[in-house]
Amino acid sequence: MFKKMKLWNTPVKRNTINERVTRILEQPCPEHVAIIMDGNGRWAKKRALPRVAGHHEGMRTVRKITMLANQLNIKTLTLYAFSTENWKRPKFEVDYLMGLPEEFLGSFLPELIEENVRVTMIGEESRLPQKTRKAVDDAIGKTAKNTGLNLNFALNYGGRAEIIDAVKSIANDVKNEALTIEDINGPCFSRYLMTQALSDPDLLIRTSGELRLSNFMLWQIAYTELWFTDVLWPDFSETHLIEAVEAFQQRTRRYGGLNDEESKR
Ligand code: FPP
Repeated sequence: MFKKMKLWNTPVKRNTINERVTRILEQPCPEHVAIIMDGNGRWAKKRALPRVAGHHEGMRTVRKITMLANQLNIKTLTLYAFSTENWKRPKFEVDYLMGLPEEFLGSFLPELIEENVRVTMIGEESRLPQKTRKAVDDAIGKTAKNTGLNLNFALNYGGRAEIIDAVKSIANDVKNEALTIEDINGPCFSRYLMTQALSDPDLLIRTSGELRLSNFMLWQIAYTELWFTDVLWPDFSETHLIEAVEAFQQRTRRYGGLNDEESKR
């Protein structure tokens, strides 16, 4: 069970974090942050614990980071919680991972509601166990009208599968004359993806030192700023999210063009 507790356990740390949050809020923040939460297994191994203990601790990190993202006025936080490839893991681990949404939302949904957080999901829901679907659907329903952070779980999600499904739907619509080939362009394609209601991620964070995208939001991250850290997901703290957002605020995004200064030269 999660106890409702203060995010930062010492006054000094809280003050430092609050000051950095205030400074961050003075500049444009990323609207959509996506996170590949990696390193749970290694975190557990370092402590001679079973891998699932790392996933459980990772779930606690989800709570902390959600609350801070909400405070930073981030509109969407997409968390890669289970990929289409994760079914290859041992049954015990898969079953454990499938139980986490129920445990997390069972404990934390009242706090999410209180904090005005809206829960959504991307991924193929039909393959999820009934109890997982029920927990997620219940949270989606109960938070649908909330206007704060959109906490978007990627569950049984794969970027390639999503693109293939979009292509099939587009082909069907062309066949049914709901769409012409000339209508197909970037914005049109985006409307056929599971993320149709979301802006593309501005910032992608991957923990644990791996430098891969692992089939995550392949279309959507074309111009996303990437931020990698060696920190394992269960150890990822508020300070790390703040560091990532501060780094984002130092970047110049040009989307393949030039900034004003460069254009004059
Ligand atoms: C990758 O680490 C992590 C996952 C496959 C699962 C991530 C899930 C959570 C953090 C919990 C999600 C919580 C909710 C509420 C749904 P890994 O196991 O591959 O780590 P390793 O590379 O060190 O082995």
